Amino acid sequence: MSAVLSALKADITSLAVDVIVNAANSSLFGGGGVDGAIHRAAGPELVHECRLLGGCRTGEAKITRGYRLPARWIIHTVGPVWRGGLQGEAQLLADCYRNSLRLAAEKAVTSLAFPAISTGIYGYPKAEATDIAVRTLRAALAQAPSLREVIFCCFSDEDLALYRARLARPD
Ligand code: APR
Repeated sequence: MSAVLSALKADITSLAVDVIVNAANSSLFGGGGVDGAIHRAAGPELVHECRLLGGCRTGEAKITRGYRLPARWIIHTVGPVWRGGLQGEAQLLADCYRNSLRLAAEKAVTSLAFPAISTGIYGYPKAEATDIAVRTLRAALAQAPSLREVIFCCFSDEDLALYRARLARPD
């Protein structure tokens, strides 16, 4: 049975799933947006573990414990900064979803939540990013047989509407 993909409007730090994904920056030392919310909610031990990881390249993903979060793990991935679409941004954003799913599969988790990676401070156009997120995960789910639930955690009604409309369409 493959995983169910759904969209939800929530603060990702409140979700009691096995893994939440963080839209981080390459230092992994925290920042604004969802990165700041996750570091605040997880507590100060998180940045100490992050310091041991040696940073993270765009499109790559690294995993830490969840500390004070309800989620057991946090997968930190670094999305591309939108620079007009001709610098490989789409491929790098797809890599974020694929590499995050790969790490989740290694932990044999059953539930996973993503924020809308790169669509905030990094300026990725929301409709294109939503399409990449849904298409990439649908294609990669077979590599994560333990997964039962993937949540696209939206932080606005606009994002929720975009994800629900895209999930309603076959690829
Ligand atoms: N829960 C869920 N989603 C959230 C939350 C939250 N608590 N806070 C923000 N978001 C949403 C934003 O509304 C946006 O849709 O996460 C999405 C990603 O936005 P950003 O957090 O700005 O991330 P991104 O665009 O990938 O930029 C990453 O921002 O915070 C810094 O350190 C981070 O430098 C990195 C950059």
